[in-house]
Amino acid sequence: MSSVIIPVDPFDLVIFGATGDLTRRKLLPALYQRDRAGQLPPDARVIGAARTEMASKAWRAEAQKALEEFVPQEDLDPEAVKRFLGRLEYVRVDAGSETGWPALAKHLEGREALVRAFYLAVGPAFFGSIAERLKAHGLVTEKARLIVEKPLGHDLASAHALNDQLRAAFPESGIYRIDHYLGKETVQNLMALRFANALFEPLWNAQYVDHVQITVAETVGLEGRGGYYDQSGAMRDMVQNHLLQLLCLTAMEPPAVFDADGVRDEKLKVLRSLAPISASNAHDVTARGQYGGRKGEKKSYLEDLGLQASNTETFVAIKAEIRNWRWAGTPFYLRTGKRLRARSSEIAVIFRHPPHMIFPHLAQGLRRNALIMRLQPDEGVTLRVTVKEPGPGGMRLREAALDMTFADALNGVRMPDAYERLVMDVIRGDQTLFMRGDEVEAAWAWIDPILAAWAGWTEPPAVYDPDGRGPEDALRLIHQDGRRWREIEP
Ligand code: BG6
Repeated sequence: MSSVIIPVDPFDLVIFGATGDLTRRKLLPALYQRDRAGQLPPDARVIGAARTEMASKAWRAEAQKALEEFVPQEDLDPEAVKRFLGRLEYVRVDAGSETGWPALAKHLEGREALVRAFYLAVGPAFFGSIAERLKAHGLVTEKARLIVEKPLGHDLASAHALNDQLRAAFPESGIYRIDHYLGKETVQNLMALRFANALFEPLWNAQYVDHVQITVAETVGLEGRGGYYDQSGAMRDMVQNHLLQLLCLTAMEPPAVFDADGVRDEKLKVLRSLAPISASNAHDVTARGQYGGRKGEKKSYLEDLGLQASNTETFVAIKAEIRNWRWAGTPFYLRTGKRLRARSSEIAVIFRHPPHMIFPHLAQGLRRNALIMRLQPDEGVTLRVTVKEPGPGGMRLREAALDMTFADALNGVRMPDAYERLVMDVIRGDQTLFMRGDEVEAAWAWIDPILAAWAGWTEPPAVYDPDGRGPEDALRLIHQDGRRWREIEP
């Protein structure tokens, strides 16, 4: 089965940070895949901008290497690669000084009527100054768009200042803040499941849902990003953005229409309904950990960093509560961590037991119904139900899974990488899957007091086993409510 391809309008996409990791690993492969699928019109250009002096030919050679490394072998079609490389041009621009800006302006001259997107695949320290220079050089046309990605600030105050800086150059409707989790197929599917089916929504509330577990477990450690990560930690790196976005999509009210502000208004309401966590309750409802090592086999976080001490957390668990009519009394347990026993991300909605059990002697030990949306790996949906065990000899009950893996159910459709969807949405001018400035600030407003509470704790983050399930404190956090985490399984 092949998916429907709707070509986008001609565009110029300028990537600042053209020689960086994000460009090589994600952006070039994503653009190539869309080109191969026939989505890019002939007059679409990708312009690399970076500080290095380099000819377009040399950048094309780098890009080819990136495709060979990061695109699956079976998707590398020589004709398509050649066509894609033909779209690439390079301009030397220094994000931190005036060098190269007139050359960039010249490059874009005469194409003012086209969509023009500027992807800032550079460190956040440059976001504000690049936006300013784009404006000063008259490059912010009516159809100009700015794309930025985390970290969007370090706390509420810095996120606010960044929003002000970006909005001084671009209108909010031209700013695309990426959270790549929103580009994942299963995350979008969550909205389809909830709002395009009559089945789930009537049960999607505190009356029927016992609790929700959102897990993003990783096996990787620092991956050479120690400098960034140690300043950030799992709370800023994962919870402030990815996990809260997943929580919002799970908990939000159905928007009246499926459009950018409809969806984002509802997500914002969820963020603003989160019960505050601060020094007075943080011990009861949060846990933090840091991965340890195993002699001769795996390095600990500190060994990975080459430091003697650090209080940065690589694991977070939180019991979040949403104070509104739909969710009062139904906790949302969030957890994320690096170097855990499996790479596994899911949203699990655990329903309440039936209100009256007519098989009381059989019901012992039966688990509640659960709807599990697997984000990765093996994107899919599972519904855990109770059924009769087949065979004569009386009524015996057991659990069974109604299991759907998207790749099988949808007949082998390729699951596109999040960036393919997101970059095309920018060109189309669709902001539904991007965070609005006020959302980012609302997320920080909830996170800041938790970080402040932790800063006052004398005990360091609990060290947990690599390949484990996280620290004991995370278990306590859910066990004290008489519930259990789902197993982290590959
Ligand atoms: C990034 C974080 O945003 O998401 C990384 O900075 C993390 O630390 C990554 O590893 C996880 O993304 P994915 O798509 O692999 O789940």
